[in-house]
Amino acid sequence: MSPRRALIAIVAGSVALSAAWAAARDPNLLDLSADELQRIQRHGPWPPPRALDPGNAVAGDAAAIQLGQQLFFDARLSIDGTMSCATCHQPLLAFADARARSRGRQDLDRNAPSLWNAAHERWYGWDGAADSLWAQAIRPILHAHEMDANPQHVRDTIARDPELACRYRKAFGRVPEDDADAVLVDVSKAIGAFVGTLVSGRTPFDAFRDALARGDAKAAARYPLPAQRGLRLFVGRGNCHLCHVGPLFTNGEFGDTGLPFFVRPGVVDPGRQRGIELLQLSEYNLLSRWSDARDDATVAMKTKQVMPQHRNFGEFKVPSLRNVALTAPYAHDGQLATLDDVVRHYSELNLERLHADGEQILKPLHLSDAERADLVAFLRSLSDPKATLWQPSRLPICKPGLARPPEEARSPLGGRERSEPGGQIKP
Ligand code: HEC
Ligand code: HEC
Repeated sequence: MSPRRALIAIVAGSVALSAAWAAARDPNLLDLSADELQRIQRHGPWPPPRALDPGNAVAGDAAAIQLGQQLFFDARLSIDGTMSCATCHQPLLAFADARARSRGRQDLDRNAPSLWNAAHERWYGWDGAADSLWAQAIRPILHAHEMDANPQHVRDTIARDPELACRYRKAFGRVPEDDADAVLVDVSKAIGAFVGTLVSGRTPFDAFRDALARGDAKAAARYPLPAQRGLRLFVGRGNCHLCHVGPLFTNGEFGDTGLPFFVRPGVVDPGRQRGIELLQLSEYNLLSRWSDARDDATVAMKTKQVMPQHRNFGEFKVPSLRNVALTAPYAHDGQLATLDDVVRHYSELNLERLHADGEQILKPLHLSDAERADLVAFLRSLSDPKATLWQPSRLPICKPGLARPPEEARSPLGGRERSEPGGQIKP
């Protein structure tokens, strides 16, 4: 049997055939067990099928993405014209800001996450206080420590600039009206549509995973041995894959890894517990009147069903590990400076600090220096080498005469024109 057919059989669950793979192996290839091969397969394929921001009727719409891209970089959205989304989510820094905690109008309590692949996340913010990208975009616009704007300011910014007003009309089929709250939501949906286009490219890990799936030992052997050994730790003794699972390397949920969560001495960040309260109180969640899918029970199901539990106190979102090499420092408040610090944390874990479910999965790994280096080599292989070359799309001039009729702009998701991603990688 060819290694390819053998592997397909292994992935389908037939353990006995792993010997065929082993026989075909190269000295530059670890002899992975059927179990390991199966776990590795779960971290792909990449890219995943397109995901559209829930509750956002203009997600995927070309005109909305253009408006959203322009607004993402436009500091006029902030009250004093000094801060845009890109201040803290810089394209060159994987749409993060390289600071431990972001600096807004004053220092924030948390680290800015990368926006790559955000469309594939399930909850937004380290505490999951938002259930959609568009709802997450509203928070920094209004927050006093961030852009500090208000609905009227946002409405005026759009209405007073002929180009923004033109793009708004094209995206939403009407002029920015006096209902400033509605304009704020539309603006956040346009920005959400743009952020939703940021899907990163393939990584050395993806090439390895797919080579294994094809049974192509020669291609698989190009993945460096330290990364292979790190991957084996990741899906094996490290138990990392129990939380960082799937193509995005996250289960989309929240966890406790024994990291301290003090904001400052005597004040803690309650994490997910407060996040659930904020989500339920939010006037912009998927159950709200602003959601374009409020009649679709499946879209808002997760928001309806989530219940705060005691263990959620001090839990933070399990971050995606795609592009992780580009987004130091790490964790919800940037307390870990490098990937080696992260791995050292898991290696020397203090079990007494674990207060939630983490303790059932996590134990100090006591890794050797070489093993730590392997795990870091693996984590580094999860980054898209072209991610930092991203450039915004050149936007066409907006011609007012070409505004789309309102019915078309408001038609259900399926019937609308789809667009290509909002940005592109320049070689
Ligand atoms: C002053 C810095 C700052 C600005 C400005 C800012 N952000 Fe953020 N962003 C953050 C921080 C910090 C977090 C984490 C928030 C949390 O956990 O509560 C975050 C989280 C996010 C997330 C969630 C990502 C995830 O995977 O959970 C998205 C999406 C996002 N921001 C988009 C935006 C958009 C869109 C804008 C502009 C409208 C914006 N941000 C403006 C700092 C900023
Ligand atoms: C119990 C679930 C769980 C397990 C198991 C787990 N992690 Fe994590 N991981 C998390 C959570 C939750 C965070 C965020 C913690 C925080 O911000 O306080 C995190 C953060 C990270 C980060 C920082 C990413 C960033 O963008 O800030 C890296 C890297 C990481 N984990 C790698 C690993 C590795 C390697 C292993 C195995 C040794 C592992 N994780 C095991 C849940 C887990």
